[in-house]
Formats: sequence, structure tokens, C-alpha cells
Amino acid sequence: MTVDLQAAARTESVVDVRPLSPALGAEVIGLDVARPVSESVIEALQTALDEYGVLLFRSQRLNPQAHIAFSDHFGPLQEVAQKQYQLDGQPLIYVIGNVEENGRAIGDPSVGRLWHSDQSFLPHPAIGSLLYGVQCPPEGAATLFANMYAAYDALPPQMRAHIERLHAVHSFSEYYEALRERDPTQPELTDTRRALYPDVTHPLVRRNPRTGRKALYINPGYATGIKEMPGATGARLLGDLCDHATREEFVYAHAWRNGDMLFWDNLAVNHKGTPFDTARFVRRMHRTTVAGSVAIYAASLVS
Ligand code: SIN
Repeated sequence: MTVDLQAAARTESVVDVRPLSPALGAEVIGLDVARPVSESVIEALQTALDEYGVLLFRSQRLNPQAHIAFSDHFGPLQEVAQKQYQLDGQPLIYVIGNVEENGRAIGDPSVGRLWHSDQSFLPHPAIGSLLYGVQCPPEGAATLFANMYAAYDALPPQMRAHIERLHAVHSFSEYYEALRERDPTQPELTDTRRALYPDVTHPLVRRNPRTGRKALYINPGYATGIKEMPGATGARLLGDLCDHATREEFVYAHAWRNGDMLFWDNLAVNHKGTPFDTARFVRRMHRTTVAGSVAIYAASLVS
């Protein structure tokens, strides 16, 4: 990713950030996010997120209230569609992993195994997600992130001009049916739930509302086709764009340690979880989700 050195210098005067990889991401050093955080630090973190796409905070000790309080600085939080995996008494915390309590699976065991951007099936998708590693397996279960700004920048100019006019169809129902095929323990999709999340379309290219930087917004987990190119032609273009965006040079793989908190921008990056040995290890992650809005979405449109 091209680094805006002036913005980076301004950020580093308030918080110490160090790049995580050539592709994307930065570690924020020495910030305890469970303590009160000033507005200038929040602004510096937002600038760093705009620059790097993903921020890592190591060695955090977060109860659900502290996790929610920190996340809330970046916008109103929203509940996820998978209500059965909300933490008891804390519906804004989404539990991910193979964790059980009193013989009941309380975590979503199979979310996020395809490249995706959170909640893109909504008309105004989530802008950010904050995933906290409560219990992380010592091997496997890395989360991969792909830099969608760099992927856009690397496309030939004619292709950029072509896709800027196109819209992808994002479908919760199709995603969910495919998920149930992979994981039959997931409950059936009721008509009520299907009606809550009708298919939506989003442009293939959106921009960061603060910096104006353009990103590829393709989201293979939820996008089923291209509105202006029905059938296999659109699906093939989406597949090609995904292959392009997830090339090694655009990807960072995060190997989790207990106490890691990752904050990612859902426009800047696509992400996906990877498998681990569920017979040997327990994984418990807590996620909050920062809601999008009409105004933020409108500011992300290219034309
Ligand atoms: C997610 O998609 O939000 C979770 C990714 C992961 O479990 O690593």
C-alpha cells in the first residue's frame, strides 16, 4: 500500500504505529484499549486505519463491556444476523469459534471461511469490525486480509473504468444456503429471516469517505453476480477480480495470540478465516461490528 507519510507522521505523534506487512496492516504499540481513550487518540487511530486497513492491538484484557465501549468510539454498533451466537446478555458481541457452554455451542463455528466484507448484504454495510482473541489455537485459525485499495490500483486503467460502472448483487440467502451445505448444524433459513435481508446491489468500486481513495468492493462471500452482466459472464468477472485481489502481494495473514484485538475497515479489506484442528483446540473470539449509515454510504460512492 502507498503510505501517505504526512498522515502517518501525524498519526505517529499521537499513537505509535508500526506496519505489520508490505501488504497492509499496522500494529498500535502500547495502547490499553480497556482504559479511557482520548478523542485525539481516536482520531489518530481512524487516520491509521484509513492508511493501513487493519490495526492490531496486542496483549489486551477486555471484558465484553470494555470491548463494546472501545468499539463505540468509531460509530454506533450493530447486531449481526446470526442472533443465536450473540453473547448472553450482550447482543452486540458476536461469539465466533467452536466454544461450548453447558453442552451448547455458543460460538459460530463456520463463519467467514470465504473471502468477504462484513454485512455487505445490507443496503448500508458495516464500516468496521473489532475481533478480539479470547482463546486462540496455537496453530491454524489465521485470519487473512486482502488490501482492496492496492488491488484496485493494480488493475489496468481500462478495467478500472469498466468496473466503475458495474454493480454486484449481494445475497444473504444464497450465502446462507451455501453455508448450510458446508455446515448442516446451522438452523434453516426461515421466511421471516429471508424477508429481513432481501438481495441488495453495491458498486464494484467505492471510495473511502474520508480520504477519497478507491477500493475494489467485490466480496466473494456474498456477491452472487453482476447486475449489468447477468449469468456466467458476470460471475466469471467477479471470480477473476477475486483471484486478482487475493494475490499474495495484497494479503496479510494474522496468526492470533490470546489478547490480540484486530480492527479492520470493511471497505479497505476483504478477510477470511482459516481452519484449525477442532478436535484438539478451542477457539473463542468476540466481535463487535460498527454499523454503516446512509450518509457514510453516500460519501463512499464514486459518482
Ligand atoms: C469474521 O469473518 O468476522 C471472522 C474471521 C475469523 O474467524 O478469523
